Amino acid sequence: MPPADHLEDLLSATRTAFADGALVRLRLGAYHGADSDLKSVEIKKITVKGGDRLSFTYHYKTRDIIKNFVEPEALALLRTALSRDFRSAQLATTGFDMDFERTGDQMLVNRTEVSGRAAPSTDHNRAKNRPLTATDKPWLKALGIVGKDGAVRHNAQDKFRQINKMVEIFAPLIKAIGAERPLIVDMGAGKGYLDFALYDFLATVARRPVRIVGVEMRHQLVADGNATARASGFEALSFQSGSIMEFDATGADAVIALHACDTATDDAIFKGIGAEASLIAVAPCCHKQIRRQMADGHPDQRLNALLRHGIFVERQAEMVTDTLRALLLELNGYRTKVFEFVSDAHTPKNNLIVAERDLRAARDPDAVLRQIAAIKTMFGIRRHHLEDLLGL
Ligand SMILES: C[S@@+](CC[C@H](N)C(=O)[O-])C[C@H]1O[C@@H](n2cnc3c(N)ncnc32)[C@H](O)[C@@H]1O
Repeated sequence: MPPADHLEDLLSATRTAFADGALVRLRLGAYHGADSDLKSVEIKKITVKGGDRLSFTYHYKTRDIIKNFVEPEALALLRTALSRDFRSAQLATTGFDMDFERTGDQMLVNRTEVSGRAAPSTDHNRAKNRPLTATDKPWLKALGIVGKDGAVRHNAQDKFRQINKMVEIFAPLIKAIGAERPLIVDMGAGKGYLDFALYDFLATVARRPVRIVGVEMRHQLVADGNATARASGFEALSFQSGSIMEFDATGADAVIALHACDTATDDAIFKGIGAEASLIAVAPCCHKQIRRQMADGHPDQRLNALLRHGIFVERQAEMVTDTLRALLLELNGYRTKVFEFVSDAHTPKNNLIVAERDLRAARDPDAVLRQIAAIKTMFGIRRHHLEDLLGL
């Protein structure tokens, strides 16, 4: 039998196990190629929104790089790798193990039957895998998350986890919007982490066409963001220079603002309400306007003990500001919920207010206004910026 047949045996067994859901793992070892840092490659089946993939984890001395491939592409890569740079492979399936070894042109395979072994379930894979697994993307490099070598930088691991978390939270909310090609406006977009990640996931993985505009007052960030969007081929992602209040949000289906400073969050909510956006989602940042009024004003004396320590005043200001925002959104026909969107190990500013427009769920306006007035009186608050914008 010609030596290359053993390699084809292994590839054929891998292809069948992948198709049948019997693939546990394929490991390539005994690397002797040009990259002195590469140690081994581990391959698993994963299920992403676009379908089943073979996920390759390249284990280097100090880092891992993950790349996902459709089956034909993966098998072509394996064929090249095992005839050139890797001398051994161990295939594990639910029914058998197959060990492959190559010395020069000589190849050996050894097959051993096994029983009682289960393949990792698709659900398990889905849960373990982040929405954005592949790291070989120009925007990840441009934003400094991935280094020249294509691996997530050591000091950007948290950021990478965070943007994946954001995609997990925002993608279903965007998908639920009725519009065929929703317009998402990100107010105070900064470098556009959320916008690149969401666009990449929705347009290329989930195949949900969207348009995203990031609004940002810092011109250089806008220029950089537009250049990176072009370089990534993200045609419907753009950044616009200017302030939130100057931006014409007419036609926006979703208005998002993550950590837009202090009252800029209110500006974003105001624009979202004005546009009658289906979705308004904000992660507020500092809460100076209300904190100052709580410190200067005359909160109910019964709160004295609660407001004695600076750190608790800070937290109360956050709760009061965001409760008032949620109530003002409800007053304007939105259903709201507030929850933590990333672990507080990443940032203490981790509350997300999600408001979905639903006129059927409208609350009695007088009751909402009474609640707002009661909270303001209790905490000695004269004005809330969003109230002023809404002309209340
Ligand atoms: C803390 S950064 C957050 C950036 C981004 N949203 C994120 O989460 O990575 C806040 C950004 O909002 C921008 N910004 C603040 N107020 C703004 C306003 N009124 N109009 C436009 N941009 C604003 C700032 O320039 C800054 O880039």
